[in-house]
Amino acid sequence: IDYAVEEAVNSGIEQIILVTSSGKFQIEDYFDRNLELETFLAERDKEKFLDLIVDIGSKIDICSVRQKQQLGLGHAINCAAPFIAEGESFAVILADDIVTGEKPVTKQLIEVSSELGNSSVVGVMEVAPEQTDKYGIVSGNFLPENKRTLLMDSMIEKPAPSESPSNLATPGRYILDSKIFNYLQETPKGAGGEYQLTDAIKLMMAQEEVYAHKFEGKRYDTGSIAGYLEATVDFALSNPEFSEIMKEIIHRRSKDQ
Ligand code: G1P
Repeated sequence: IDYAVEEAVNSGIEQIILVTSSGKFQIEDYFDRNLELETFLAERDKEKFLDLIVDIGSKIDICSVRQKQQLGLGHAINCAAPFIAEGESFAVILADDIVTGEKPVTKQLIEVSSELGNSSVVGVMEVAPEQTDKYGIVSGNFLPENKRTLLMDSMIEKPAPSESPSNLATPGRYILDSKIFNYLQETPKGAGGEYQLTDAIKLMMAQEEVYAHKFEGKRYDTGSIAGYLEATVDFALSNPEFSEIMKEIIHRRSKDQ
């Protein structure tokens, strides 16, 4: 979640709404100040840690809302409706998907949205054809002279490979106009018996142009064990403080095999 907040900050976003649920107060506490801990660290000359904890949450206005029942992604997004004014656009970042790269993926999508007159834009990446049933899948036509941006003509939640209109999947990055809340209210339960954001975007597409953009970056699915492990290894390897340790662990383990 910290990586998602960092992505938002580095994309120029000034206000974050965390959608949480009961029992997850540690997330709110993590981004809040902890005066007791600050005093404790200051008294023990632990400036390095003090800077780290004061830095978290100081750069941005963060508030949170609780989703009282887990009725799907569409329902979770709808919980944030009271915080977003009519006519405003907002970004959705699903924090179990981490994307690394030179330019934050949300920033790439914000730029595309503003080039297209503040239209809604869904971030997409290519996946193996047999993986379509894990994602929201989009299809459409690439804009003339643009190999990365498409005008969408369909969006389906987790289609079977044989029914998928393409292999362009969304890994949880969206720029949406506040009108999405009108569509979310009309959206019936969909795949998995849940209220799906994908279905609300589909309703919106029938009324206005919605685009998809093939972003640049590497995506990690930290909601899966393999993706979580891969992210841990890669992040350690690219961190000067931990890269040597991680290389050594990998080296030692591969020798033991
Ligand atoms: C959600 C969305 C799906 C999207 C995916 C990305 O599904 O409903 O459209 O492709 O996140 O991770 P979930 O993984 O929560 O089932």
